[in-house]
Amino acid sequence: MPGICIVGAQWGDEGKGKVVDLLAEQADAIVRFQGGNNAGHTIIRDGEVFKFHLIPSGILYPGKRCIIGNGVVVDPGVLTDELDALKARGIDTSGLRISANAHVIMPYHLLLDTAGEAKLGKLQIGTTRRGIGPCYADKAARLGIRMQDLLDERILKKKITAAIDPKRLSLRPYDKDPSLDLQSMTEAYLTYGHRLERHIADTARIVWDALDADKLVLYEGAQGALLDIDHGTYPFVTSSNPIAGAACVGAGVGPKDIHEVWGIAKAYVTRVGSGPFPTELDDEVGEEIRTRGGEFGTTTGRARRTGWLDIPALRYASRINGLTSLAITKLDVLSGFQKIKVCMSYSGPDGAEFENFPYHQSVLHHARGEYVELDGWTEDITECRSPSDLPTAARDYLQFIAEKTGVPVMLVGVGPGRDQIVWMRDVPELAAAA
Ligand code: IMP
Repeated sequence: MPGICIVGAQWGDEGKGKVVDLLAEQADAIVRFQGGNNAGHTIIRDGEVFKFHLIPSGILYPGKRCIIGNGVVVDPGVLTDELDALKARGIDTSGLRISANAHVIMPYHLLLDTAGEAKLGKLQIGTTRRGIGPCYADKAARLGIRMQDLLDERILKKKITAAIDPKRLSLRPYDKDPSLDLQSMTEAYLTYGHRLERHIADTARIVWDALDADKLVLYEGAQGALLDIDHGTYPFVTSSNPIAGAACVGAGVGPKDIHEVWGIAKAYVTRVGSGPFPTELDDEVGEEIRTRGGEFGTTTGRARRTGWLDIPALRYASRINGLTSLAITKLDVLSGFQKIKVCMSYSGPDGAEFENFPYHQSVLHHARGEYVELDGWTEDITECRSPSDLPTAARDYLQFIAEKTGVPVMLVGVGPGRDQIVWMRDVPELAAAA
């Protein structure tokens, strides 16, 4: 029966993959419910580094049902490359299932993403240029190609033609681009279809069966609450809903099938791409956090913007997701700072103060963090494995976060390795749920 949803509580890159990987051992099914290969996560297992963009993290456990839900947008070229890379390393990928209703990223989506950004110039969003926005746009316009369409040449050709037709003008600069040739595009995507056919399924039914059998199901979100198209820092957001409510839509379950929602947040904040970031550190402290935390994107390699923890934003993410627990990652990155600042409210240009995350774009763009200073710690915490191993100041920091957000901290990351975790609470129910 238990379903646990894992979501990002900031602007993405919070370390969701590591938490999902940790829980996946006890789960029967792991379902990604939105986003696409704009996401990226790194799992370090026995010193081996695995990078995923589409495949759910649980794939490293043989036989687990790893599901790409209907809410995900799939670039089949990226997916087949990921499958090939895993197979080459001897990983059993037979548990992968892809929703027949998941939408497919087509070559024109990639071109339109890049063209759209170029057109925006200085106002660009800083997308990952993976075609995510244009693919979701086609889904909403009912011009999308779905995984099931890759299994029928006639239908595929018809749908591609219908999808391209209204884009003729925007695609004119790419007239000679070989990836847009109807025949070769159809053939290439049919080939993907043949390759992926054994994985394509009615994935909602698989999730229902697992829930009905009282198995643990993990709903794996990508990106984070502040990149949500409805609730994030629009228009500097992604084109899907990375919040817990979207797990229902993107996996095909009801709200009662989600029993816990864990929000993952770094001990500080990062953001990639453009858009407001009230606690951004444009100085040597920010640079130090970036260097120590290795804050460079898994997907695009871009340097991430860095800043202090933002409590109003975290409280907002907590409310929107209905968080039941927090996981604080990368706490070790803050070791060595004499003082740690935490944003408690914002100030505007006219001296106005805001205690809550501003809903208005103009206000948010000018909001600057107002901080309290907490004591830091100098000890290396990477070997800590229980709360009592942590320095008092680190424990106080976690307690402060829990108090100010009203959400208990379940676990803490103290290094990149799978075992570099401190559980702050017992997890007996979870183990029993498996
Ligand atoms: P898109 O999702 O590629 O359209 O990009 C829209 C915005 O979301 C950009 O600011 C990206 O940098 C950001 N974004 C998308 N995916 C991720 C992610 O996995 N981590 C962090 N930022 C992301």
